[in-house]
Amino acid sequence: MAGFIVLGAQWGDEGKGKMTDFLAESSDVIVRFQGGNNAGHTVIVGENEYKLHLIPSGVLYKDKLNIIGNGVVLDPKAFFEELDYLEKAGIKVSPEQLIVSDRANVIMPYHKVLDKLKEEARGKNNIGTTGKGIGPCYTDKAERSGIRVCDLINPVVLKEKLKETIVSKNDIITKVYNGEELNFDTIYEEYVELGKRLKSFVADSSVRIYDAIKSGKKVLFEGAQGMLLDIDYGTYPFVTSSNTTAGGVCSGVGIGPTMISGAVGVAKAYTTRVGKGPFPTELDNETGEWIRQKGGEFGVTTGRARRCGWLDLVILKTSARVSGLTDLVVTKIDTLAGLDKIMVCVGYKFEDKVIDYFPASLEDLAKCEPIYEEFEGWDDSVADARSYDEIPENAKKYLKRIEEFTGVPISIVSVGPKRDQTIVLKEI
Ligand code: GDP
Ligand code: IMO
Ligand code: MG
Repeated sequence: MAGFIVLGAQWGDEGKGKMTDFLAESSDVIVRFQGGNNAGHTVIVGENEYKLHLIPSGVLYKDKLNIIGNGVVLDPKAFFEELDYLEKAGIKVSPEQLIVSDRANVIMPYHKVLDKLKEEARGKNNIGTTGKGIGPCYTDKAERSGIRVCDLINPVVLKEKLKETIVSKNDIITKVYNGEELNFDTIYEEYVELGKRLKSFVADSSVRIYDAIKSGKKVLFEGAQGMLLDIDYGTYPFVTSSNTTAGGVCSGVGIGPTMISGAVGVAKAYTTRVGKGPFPTELDNETGEWIRQKGGEFGVTTGRARRCGWLDLVILKTSARVSGLTDLVVTKIDTLAGLDKIMVCVGYKFEDKVIDYFPASLEDLAKCEPIYEEFEGWDDSVADARSYDEIPENAKKYLKRIEEFTGVPISIVSVGPKRDQTIVLKEI
């Protein structure tokens, strides 16, 4: 049993990229199991910063195998753009280092067009998607009309499937949304070439992961997005279209739960969210702006300003339950340094009760009032801490409260974006 999961415990952007890169050093295989290039994972190595969207964050190590599992929706154009970006940065990735599942569904041009048209049609009720075609691609997957990687690399099957699909997609684009018709030949010609280029990366990734674990290798499953963007347990409909929680791993890579030994939840020391939807502890004020500027809270994929708020332990407790978290990683405690008082939400007042779980109904959630506990702040010296002892006492109290409330031990504390700004409290 040597499969290990890294998940976002909030609304995404918790620092999963940094943690995956950090934990990849002692892993052999790094696997993405859901989402697509809607993700934006930042990894800093030395003086260089890398922004990864689709390719697993283990790619910066030469000797690791990286896998894009069947649960991912793969935009082949974005895939090659990212490989080109890495190559320009001096990181050439070969098919020996990177495998794409033959079962992954492919994001086609009409998915991206429909993502934008649907968002426009939703008007003020829009979700605020990344516009990468994620939702429409997963819709086709569930509806059983998707084009998979094994189809993309077979020109005959691609032609057949695309011919059939493009008719209904054009009907929807033009008749429902008044959009512009897409041309079959143009798409076919481009995608048949992309399929040819992709072929050498394609394999049955489930077999490779199974064999790796059976032979004693360590496999790290890298989550994208976060618990509250999960299609089932997130703030539906303001979510992404995949299972971002631990449950998504088995179906997203094709192995059983008995091969997984733990799940690490990555949580920021405060809360952020990009896009629309409820956010009980949001700070729509000067303090929120202060955190945004200090933490550089701007989206890696879309550049949008992230909404910022206090840490919400109700969210972390829900994450711990839904994903069976065995460890927590707390990031960005350095960002909060300098504040006199820091608030932490420890429950919601809902009607005449106090609850510590996340309600399903957004109407109920809107009635929830956060109950806060106040903490004394700490100073910027925290960014220089390299051991638990060097962390300021007030920050230690803050971390203790997180462990106590969630019942999950904190194994790593991150005090800055760089690899060496990582304090291991307990080996994972
Ligand atoms: P991801 O989507 O979960 O991988 O997170 P993002 O990369 O979207 O956003 C996290 C941002 O915080 C990135 O710019 C990271 O370089 C940065 N980061 C990660 N951990 C820390 C930390 O402990 N302190 C600070 N200041 N920045 C961090
Ligand atoms: P990482 O992996 C933060 C959000 C979008 C939108 C909603 C649906 O970097 O944490 P989608 O394009 O997926 O249909 O958009 O989900 N979203 C993210 N927010 N981090 C992400 O990824 C996200 N990926 C999607 O902003 O609200
Ligand atoms: Mg991100």
